[in-house]
Amino acid sequence: MYEGFRKYRPFPPIDLPDRQWPNKVIEKAPTWCSVDLRDGNQALINPMNLEQKLRFFKTLVDVGFKEIEVGFPSASETEYEILRTLIDRNLIPDDVTIQVLVQARPHLIQKTFEAIRGAKNVIVHFYNSTSTLQRKVVFHTDMQGVIDIAVDAARLIKRLTDEEVAKTGANIRFEYSPESFSGTEVQNAVDICQRVLEELGATPENKVILNLPNTVEGSTPNCHADQIEYFCRHLKGRDSAIISLHPHNDRGCAVAATELGLMAGADRVEGTLFGNGERTGNADIMVIAMNMYSQGIDPKLDFSNLNAIKEVYEDCTELQVHERHPYAGELVFTAFSGSHQDAIKKGIEYMQEHHSDYWEVPYLPLDPADVGRAYEPIIRINSQSGKGGAAFIMKHNYGYDMPKTMHPEFGAIVKGACDEAGREMQPDEIYALFQKEYLDNRYPYNLKSYKLYEENESHDDQKDTVVHFEGNLRFKHEDHHISGVGNGPIDAFFNAIRTVGIQNYRFVSYHEHALNAGADSKAVSYIQLETPDKTTIFGVGLDSNISLASIKGIICAINRAEQKNQA
Ligand code: KIV
Ligand code: ZN
Repeated sequence: MYEGFRKYRPFPPIDLPDRQWPNKVIEKAPTWCSVDLRDGNQALINPMNLEQKLRFFKTLVDVGFKEIEVGFPSASETEYEILRTLIDRNLIPDDVTIQVLVQARPHLIQKTFEAIRGAKNVIVHFYNSTSTLQRKVVFHTDMQGVIDIAVDAARLIKRLTDEEVAKTGANIRFEYSPESFSGTEVQNAVDICQRVLEELGATPENKVILNLPNTVEGSTPNCHADQIEYFCRHLKGRDSAIISLHPHNDRGCAVAATELGLMAGADRVEGTLFGNGERTGNADIMVIAMNMYSQGIDPKLDFSNLNAIKEVYEDCTELQVHERHPYAGELVFTAFSGSHQDAIKKGIEYMQEHHSDYWEVPYLPLDPADVGRAYEPIIRINSQSGKGGAAFIMKHNYGYDMPKTMHPEFGAIVKGACDEAGREMQPDEIYALFQKEYLDNRYPYNLKSYKLYEENESHDDQKDTVVHFEGNLRFKHEDHHISGVGNGPIDAFFNAIRTVGIQNYRFVSYHEHALNAGADSKAVSYIQLETPDKTTIFGVGLDSNISLASIKGIICAINRAEQKNQA
C-alpha cells in the first residue's frame, strides 16, 4: 500500500472571496532581477569561480537585466572577492544595479556595507524567515521576535546607508524578504513588511522592494496569487513598495505561480535562467519572458541568441538544459508526428503566400528564428512521419521542391529505410536516399552522350521547327546509337528510345525549377511516367541544361520502373 500521503497536510486556502486576479491580463514586462549568481550559484555542486561569475554576469547584462543579485558577500571570502572584482574593475554598467543578499544579522550587514563600497547602484537585500513552521521548529519564537529581528536590521541598514551616501553619494536602495513568505500567515507577512517599510522611511519617491518568496512551493499557483493579491490589498502605503516575486519550483509550477502572481499585482520578478536554484530551482526567467514575447508583449530581455546563452549557462553551472526545456531544448522545434509535420508545412506555406503579419504555424508556438534557431531541425523523420516530412526536408535543407504528387512515393522510400534501420533518418541520410534512388540511378539505361539540335522544316507556306535528338544510350553493358525527331526535346527523345524497343511508357507530368540562384544554377526536373503495367513512377533529372535535365528525368523514371520489374 502507498500510504505515505497521510503524513501531509493540504495547503490552507486564503480567504479572498472577492479575488480580482483571475480577470487580469499580463500586459507589460515586470522589472526583472536575475538571482543566478546567488540563489542559482549557491545550489551548484561546484559554485562558480571568479572567471565563470564574471562571464555569467556579462551574459546577464547582454540579455538586458538591469538588476542582478551578484552574491552573498558576507557569507564567504570568495563571494566578497568576486563582488570587489566587479566593482574595482569597473565591470558594472552605469544602468545596472547590483544586488547583495544578507541575513538580518548586524555583523553580516556591516561586512556587506564594506563589500559594496565604491559601487554606484546597489540594492541591499536583507531577509529573515517568518514562516509558521520555522518559528516553531527552528527559532522557537513568536511573530514579535521575528518582527524585532527585521526591524532592528532595517534600522542598522538605514543608518549605514545614510553614512555611505553622505561619503560616496552611492545610490543605495533596499529590499526586504520575509523568507518563506508563502509559508507565513499572510496577515503576519503584511504586518512585518509594514514595520520594515516604516523603519526604512519608504515613500512613493523612494520605494522599498518587498520580495515575497515562495521559498518552498507548497500550493497550486492560484493560492500563491491569492496570497499576493491579499498582500497588495492589505499593505498600507502600497505605493511606497515594489512588490517582488521569488518563486521556487518544488511542485513544478514556478513559472505559472509567477504569471498568476503578476496578475495579482506584483511589479517585479526574481528568478534564474533555465530555472537553476535550490532543490528544483527558481522560476525560469527565460521561459516567463518568452511566454510574454509569444503573446505579443515586449519582455525587455533579449533571448535572440538563446543557444549562446545556453552554452554559457552549461559551461558555468555544469548543468544541462533538458532536451524538452521550453524554448531552449534541443528537441523543442521538432515534430515527430506526420500530421504535425504536415500542419507545420502548411502553416509556413500559408504565411509565405499571405505575407502574414502574425505567426500562424500550427504546433510551433514560436518562430524558431526568434531564439536563433533554424528551420532545419523542425522536422525529424521516423517511420511514423507522414509523406510530406521527407519532402519538407528536401525542400528546406536542399532546395528540391518535389511536386506534391511525388511526396507519397519518396515518403514511402524514406519510411522503408527508417523501418529497416529501426530509427529516425537525419537530413543527410534522407538526401543520400534521394540521390541513390533518383539522381544517381543509371541502370540499366545510361545516356553516355547526346546531341540536340533544331531544324526548320517548310510545309507548304508554313515553317515548323523540329528538334532532333541523337545519342549514345548504354543498355546494361552495350552501347546503342539512338536518334529521333519531335516537336520538342522530350518528344524527340521518346521517339529516339523507341528505336531500341523502349515503348509503352506514357508521359504523365513534368515539373521543373532552378536549384540554386545565380550563374551556376542547375535545373531539376521531376518526370512522372505511366509504365507498361499502368502504374505511375517518378524520375528526377539534374543538369545545367534544362532539356538534358528532363531527358535524365525520363531515363531515371524508366530505370526505376525496370528495376521494380526485376525485383
Ligand atoms: O528563496 C528564498 O526565500 C530566498 C531568499 C533569501 C530571498 O532565496
Ligand atoms: Zn530563493
